[in-house]
Amino acid sequence: MSTYAHITGWGMAVPEKVLTNQELEMMVDTNDEWIRSRTGIEERRIASDDQTTASLATEAAVNALRVAKLPPSQVDLVIVATSTPEYLFPATACLVQDRIGASTAGAFDLLAACSGFIYGLNMAAETIRGGSNKNALVIGAETLSRVVDWSDRNTCILFGDGAGAFVLQASEEPGGILSSVMRSDGSGGDLLWIPGGGSAEPATNQTVDDSHHFIQMNGREVFRFATRVMARTSEEAIRKAGLEVEDIDLIIPHQANLRIINAAARGLKLPMERFAVNVQKYGNTSTASIPIAAVEAIEEGRIKPGDNLVLVGFGAGLTWGALTAQWTGPFAELKPIRMRRYRRIARIRSFLLRWARRLGALFFGRRGDSA
Ligand code: COA
Repeated sequence: MSTYAHITGWGMAVPEKVLTNQELEMMVDTNDEWIRSRTGIEERRIASDDQTTASLATEAAVNALRVAKLPPSQVDLVIVATSTPEYLFPATACLVQDRIGASTAGAFDLLAACSGFIYGLNMAAETIRGGSNKNALVIGAETLSRVVDWSDRNTCILFGDGAGAFVLQASEEPGGILSSVMRSDGSGGDLLWIPGGGSAEPATNQTVDDSHHFIQMNGREVFRFATRVMARTSEEAIRKAGLEVEDIDLIIPHQANLRIINAAARGLKLPMERFAVNVQKYGNTSTASIPIAAVEAIEEGRIKPGDNLVLVGFGAGLTWGALTAQWTGPFAELKPIRMRRYRRIARIRSFLLRWARRLGALFFGRRGDSA
């Protein structure tokens, strides 16, 4: 019998702090009218000092598990798609795994820039369909405000912070993730990148002075690339699922620029009502933008069980991708779970593990050294 990967939980987390276009006018040479007309963005969220990619990811994950009514101990896999990880290593996914108490889960980060959430869903779905996992958590989380040059008007108006998460679960009922397409073109890698801080340009005073730890972008070229791939990739994923464009109830595109979404709508010959759009509220939150738009569409009652959806995105790499999914919602027979209690247990578990390691080093460390 075949196994399918269903979307059974969803959650999001955005910082409280709002940065409006008017506030940006006081920071760089720009204006509200320019930003709205070129991008559709009105405001974005900015992480506070104590918020990080891992903290936003954890909050979104907890909300998604609550919806799915899935205890963290039953999560087999945590994937965090992010371009702004907490550290180069360990993976942000491992920090989330510890904070939610997913004690038997594997965890890794996935770097495919703004296409990362689609890539991550596809990877998680494959492990579920292949039988190696039953329950997976896929998170898109970013604190792009930490890698934006706030004196560069070409980029600082575009990006925002946030996180979104889906729970995927195995079932023999047909549905869930139906098809996917993942593509890349590394020849365009320098169109959107952070040149410094990796092995090519390790951090030095010079890389800091040259602003090489901030996002650099060729906006026009990225725009041209994005408008070229959005409709084409969506169509490919739809065809792969054995569906027609008319069968799609809602398209949830990467929220980078309203004009790019308009171009996708024209390419697919669909009205804008068929698209989930919230770029005006959050700007481009990279990997988080698709799950955040999905969560808001669900809350607005725009997605019902049985609906056919397309998720489509593009980003640095260059990468792009799309997937089609039949919406499921939480498995009905499960009882509500108390996530607050699980989080408390996770905190105690993490504390005890750290102490056990310290005590182990104290009592057995020397013996271990001489062995
Ligand atoms: N405020 C005012 N003027 C600005 C500005 C700002 N924030 N940013 C750029 N400009 C200026 C430019 O300097 C340029 O001036 P010039 O003609 O004197 O050189 C002018 O506005 C037009 O720039 P242009 O690049 O042609 O604008 P555009 O219509 O292409 O819009 C973007 C610029 C960045 C909004 C658009 O190219 C875009 O959205 N690209 C995709 C970016 C993206 O999505 N990145 C993330 C991918 S995941």
